[in-house]
Amino acid sequence: MGQATLRLERLGLMQIYLDYSATTPPRPEVMATVQSAMAEQWGNPSSLHQWGNRAATVLEQARSQVAGLIGAPDDAILFTAGGTEADNLALLGVAQRYRQPQHLIISSVEHSAIEKPAQQLEQLGWQVTRLPVDRQGRLHPDDLRQALRDNTVLVSIIYGQSEVGTLQPIERLGQVVRDHGALFHTDAVQVAGRLPINVQTLPVDLLSLSSHKIYGPQGVGALYVRPGVALLPLILGGNQEQALRAGTQALPNIAGFGVAAGLAAQELSQEAVRLVELRDRLFDQLDRLGPTHVDRG
Ligand SMILES: Cc1ncc(COP(=O)(O)O)c(C=O)c1O
Repeated sequence: MGQATLRLERLGLMQIYLDYSATTPPRPEVMATVQSAMAEQWGNPSSLHQWGNRAATVLEQARSQVAGLIGAPDDAILFTAGGTEADNLALLGVAQRYRQPQHLIISSVEHSAIEKPAQQLEQLGWQVTRLPVDRQGRLHPDDLRQALRDNTVLVSIIYGQSEVGTLQPIERLGQVVRDHGALFHTDAVQVAGRLPINVQTLPVDLLSLSSHKIYGPQGVGALYVRPGVALLPLILGGNQEQALRAGTQALPNIAGFGVAAGLAAQELSQEAVRLVELRDRLFDQLDRLGPTHVDRG
């Protein structure tokens, strides 16, 4: 506990953490799982002996739990070192399939984990369109439709904006992209575990997740890749994660992510209601302060 916290507590002032979009505190169940994976399942999941087999069982159980959160088949989940890597793999992993630069569409409100790889593609000669959003931060499906070109191969639109919370109409946007025949990626890091996501019905080909936004450990995430969608890896080495993300998996983190995802899936309906109540309470209190503009859209 920091000195400032101690002083505040002595003064009887409670601190309230309001930055859950930046990171969430790991749940006790997650911490217990991380510790037990480190103590007991420290084998390499790729090893063929019993220590490896035990670790591989933990890895695949976590994959199932994460897949369950978004209705995906287990083998459509690739573990990464976080949401940033999942976003990079989606954009650059698709782009690397093309010998010639193509056209990419993103929005003007993407996280830097999408904006920066898009800038890199631009430097390599790709055309990148950044679609503007309205006053609420929302992108209109008609604007997306008009921006599509013959050589648009990928569209990436953030699902829930990390700073202002705007939700994009991902289902409608995805349908526009699907009708055109391009691939559609969404960064769902801020939405998974807060609202239901089902990739069986949502027209997305790639979707990014991050563990530490859902009370799991930091430094682990996942990319959902719709079966049949081809990518090239960014990290080369062993054949882990279907040879799309080389390197021994961070098993304790992944196990913790699995538990966090499982709990999030179980609690999703109550959690959505709880968050709406908290938001409304905050907005009501802000309204009482005087001339504030609160947009509940
Ligand atoms: C929308 C969004 N995408 C990606 C990331 C990056 O995720 P990570 O911190 O797991 O790399 C974040 C984290 O702030 C985010 O809010």
